[in-house]
Amino acid sequence: MQDQLAELVARAESELPVLASRPDFEAAKARYVGPKGDLTVLMKQMGSVPKEERPAMGKLINETKTRLQSLLDDTLARLEAAELAAQLGPAVDPTLPSPDPLPGTRHPLTQVREELCSILRKVGFNVVEGPEVETEYYCFDALNTPPTHPARDPQDTFYFPATASFTNVDKKVPEEKYLLRTHTSSVQIRTMLKGEPPIRIVSPGRVYRRDTVDATHSANFHQLEGLYIDRNVTVADLKALLDYVLKSLLGSETKVRFRPHYFGYTEPSFEVDLSARHLPKVNKEWVEIMGCGMVDPAVFDDVGYDSSVWSGYAFGMGIERIAMMIYGIDDIRYFYQNDLRFLRQFC
Ligand code: DAH
Repeated sequence: MQDQLAELVARAESELPVLASRPDFEAAKARYVGPKGDLTVLMKQMGSVPKEERPAMGKLINETKTRLQSLLDDTLARLEAAELAAQLGPAVDPTLPSPDPLPGTRHPLTQVREELCSILRKVGFNVVEGPEVETEYYCFDALNTPPTHPARDPQDTFYFPATASFTNVDKKVPEEKYLLRTHTSSVQIRTMLKGEPPIRIVSPGRVYRRDTVDATHSANFHQLEGLYIDRNVTVADLKALLDYVLKSLLGSETKVRFRPHYFGYTEPSFEVDLSARHLPKVNKEWVEIMGCGMVDPAVFDDVGYDSSVWSGYAFGMGIERIAMMIYGIDDIRYFYQNDLRFLRQFC
C-alpha cells in the first residue's frame, strides 16, 4: 500500500504540471481524489492493514492527500492564469501612446471658427470671450432691444427661473433676469464697458434659442461677433472688411451682397448674402450669412461713449451655416452627434 501511495504521488507529479485544459484537469482530479478515484480506493483498503501499522499508514494517506491537493491547486491556478492571459491578449502598457492610426481631428466647427479668427487677427482684431449665461442687460437692453421685442419672448429665449442665483460679477446690474445668451452681440457691450475705444474685437461662442431642432435649426449653435470702434469708421470699411473675410475663407470667386435690414443696435443695418456656387452642394445663388451695421448711437450712449467722436461697425455670423456651405453638410444635427464616421471626414 505504501508503494501504491508513493506511485500515486509520482504519477500526479509528472501528469498534473503538463495538463493543458480545464476538462483534462477535471478528469485528472476525479481520477486522483474523486469518490471513485485512486486515493479513495486505497483508503478503502485500510481495513485490511494490520492494526499496528494503521496509525503510520493513516499518516501516510493524509500526507498523500495533502500532496495531491497541493498539486491540484497549483495546476488549477496555472490553468486560470493562462485563461486570463488568453482573454487579455498580448501584454498592454497603458502608458504608451495609442496605436490608433487615426489621430483625433478638430471638429469642423472648431476649424471654421479658428480659420475665421485667424483671418481677422491678421487685420488687427483681438479674440475675446463672453459668458453664455447672460443678463437681459447685456443681451438686450444695452443693445437697444426693448422689452417688447419678440426675441425677448420666453418662447424664444431660455430664461432662468427668477429664484436662480448666480454670482453676479457685474455689480452694476444686480437685479437682472438671467438667460442663456441668444447671440454673441452681448460681448460687444461687455467689451465696450470694460475698455475704451479704439476697439477691434472678434468673439466666437455658443448661443441658445428655443428653436425646434430640425435639419437647419438647433437650440444651441455658434456665432462669431465682430466689433470695430474708432474715429470716422464708415459702411465702406465694413463692406471692405467683410469682403476680405469671406473671400479669404471661401475663395476669391465668392460674391458678397448687402441687403438693408433692421437691428436695434446698428443703424444702418444690413443682412449679408453670399454667392459661392463653387462650393460643393451650394445650389442657391444667394445664401443669407450674417447681420451687420454701423453701431447705433443709442448703444454708444448706453456704455458712455461720445457718439459725436466715435463710430463703428458690428457684425455677427452663424458658424454652422458657413461650415455647412464649406463642407457640403445638409443637416446641422451631424455637428452634435459625435459620430466618428462624420468627424473623421474632416482630418
Ligand atoms: N445678433 C444678430 C443675430 O443673432 C446678428 C447681428 C446683427 C450681429 C447685426 C451684429 C449686428 O453685430 O450688428 O442674428
